[in-house]
Amino acid sequence: MSKTLIYPGTFDPFTLGHLDLAERACRIADRVVIAVAEHSSKQPLFSLAQRCQLVRDSCAHLRVEVRPFSGLLINLAQEEQADMILRGLRSGTDLDYERPMADLNRRMLPGLEVLFMLPAAELAAISSTLVREIHRLGGNTQPLIPAVVATALANKR
Ligand code: PNS
Repeated sequence: MSKTLIYPGTFDPFTLGHLDLAERACRIADRVVIAVAEHSSKQPLFSLAQRCQLVRDSCAHLRVEVRPFSGLLINLAQEEQADMILRGLRSGTDLDYERPMADLNRRMLPGLEVLFMLPAAELAAISSTLVREIHRLGGNTQPLIPAVVATALANKR
C-alpha cells in the first residue's frame, strides 16, 4: 500500500540538516509532502512564499511536494491522507520538545504514525536559529545550508 509522509517545519531557513531528512524520507515513503508552517510567533526572516520556494529549489533533485500550511498539523495530515509525520531529532532536548506534540497529535488523530530520524552526525549541530544568528552577525553560513538558500541569504544583506 502506498504510504504518504509529511515532513513539517518552519524552515526559516531550510538547512542541510533538513535536506538530509528530506532525502531520507524519500527512501522510506512513496509520497513525501514537505509542509512549511506559517511562523507562529515572531516575524520570520523569509516570508512563507519565499520559504516554500527555497525548499522547492533545495529539493529539486527529489520527488517531493512542497506546500504551505497553517493551523493544526493533524488537519493537514487528514487533508493529505498522510500515514506518517516525520520530525528530526538532533538531541535529547529536541526529544523533550517533540514528545508531547507527538503524543497529542496521535491522540487527536489515531492511526497517525510519528517517526523521528537522526540527521547525519556532522549535520546535528545545525539549526535554523543558529544559521540566522551567524548570518545576522556577519559569519559564513555557506557550509550549513543549500546553495540556493545561501544565495537568498546573501541578498538579504
Ligand atoms: O521547524 P519547527 O518550528 O520546529 O516546526 C514546528 C511545527 C510547525 C512542525 C509545529 O509547531 C506544528 O506542528 N505546528 C502546527 C500547529 C499544531 O498542530 N499544534 C499542535 C501540536 S500538538
